[in-house]
Amino acid sequence: MAASCFGQMFSFYKIFLQQARNCSTRQRTGLPPYVKIVEVGPRDGLQNEVKFVPTETKVEFINKLSEAQLPVIEVTSFVSPKWIPQMADNSVVLESIKRQRGIVYSALTPNLKGFKEAVSSGVNAVAIFGAASETFSKKNINCSISESLQRFEELMKAAKEIQMPVRGYISCVLGCPYERTIPPEKVAEVAKQMFEMGCYEISLGDTIGVGNPGAMKHLISKVTECVPIERLAVHCHDTYGQALANILAAIQMGVAVIDSSTAGLGGCPYAKGASGNVATEDVLYMLDGLGIKTGVDLQKTVEAGCFISKVLGRSTQSKVGQAMKSSL
Ligand code: HMG
Ligand code: MG
Repeated sequence: MAASCFGQMFSFYKIFLQQARNCSTRQRTGLPPYVKIVEVGPRDGLQNEVKFVPTETKVEFINKLSEAQLPVIEVTSFVSPKWIPQMADNSVVLESIKRQRGIVYSALTPNLKGFKEAVSSGVNAVAIFGAASETFSKKNINCSISESLQRFEELMKAAKEIQMPVRGYISCVLGCPYERTIPPEKVAEVAKQMFEMGCYEISLGDTIGVGNPGAMKHLISKVTECVPIERLAVHCHDTYGQALANILAAIQMGVAVIDSSTAGLGGCPYAKGASGNVATEDVLYMLDGLGIKTGVDLQKTVEAGCFISKVLGRSTQSKVGQAMKSSL
């Protein structure tokens, strides 16, 4: 227990140190020298798969992502198995993976029940997830935005007692499948409340991938009125093929945390028509070209992407993965 607590503190210390270095280099180049990749493939990528992905496959996929040195891996979610059957093996997956020192293994937790189960399964961090759209909130987590924030308060209190880091997701930041347009002011309001509650990072989710770089810049300028840029992440689904461009726009504004999914897997069951997340391989390739460090091994990430795509019986959605797989 003490060793795992130390490991957790060490992982977060490394990440915060990088963020501090980013502040000074950004002043000179306009771009952060280091970007933290939050790999959401095992959770966001697989939650939508209709056919149950065997637990051993999930474990092998996560082990391969660990070998690629992804600094944060969102392993699973502790939600109702009636709502998301694919994540029903959450604790077995967490308990079976081969953990590597310095990597944060996290999980989604919508309420206190999920939080307690995630903690006893050995997570290093958890994430709460809300929305900037009332209708999406109701469809996704069965409550209004204000009810969700009350539930989160309860979870935050329990997390503070054991010093468990909590990330906050906001869905539908650039558009909603039910309400269409979402005002950036609404996103900023939810972000402010999650940040003030104690979330160490706020991930802005373009759940249905409708954003574009102009909208992304406008959104970030509004949200940074309430939350410091070092505490923001972007989470881009790629429905309209704008995800990489949106990420570049966000990085140019100073965002240094990017969520992505190996092989471009993903989608939300409560956002019909939403495609996968931006592919981790594509983000790594772009960042490398910009001279931005991630500490992640691209080749090994491509291998992990080929592995999971083969098991799922389809080709990788990553353009970089497709281009590089012939050289494996
Ligand atoms: P609810 O029905 O309102 O909850 O669901 P409840 O408290 O009334 O409980 C009903 C039943 O659920 C009970 O079981 C509880 O025990 C059980 P029963 O007595 O009927 O057998 N339950 C749970 N079981 C396991 N783990 C739990 C849990 N909580 C209650 N934690 C709830 C509320 C949030 C649980 C439900 O709506 C749910 O599970 N929703 C799933 C939401 C989800 O996982 N969505 C996808 C992830 S979000 C996403 O993809 C977006 C993101 O990627 C960013 C972006 O792209 O925008 C993050
Ligand atoms: Mg998502």
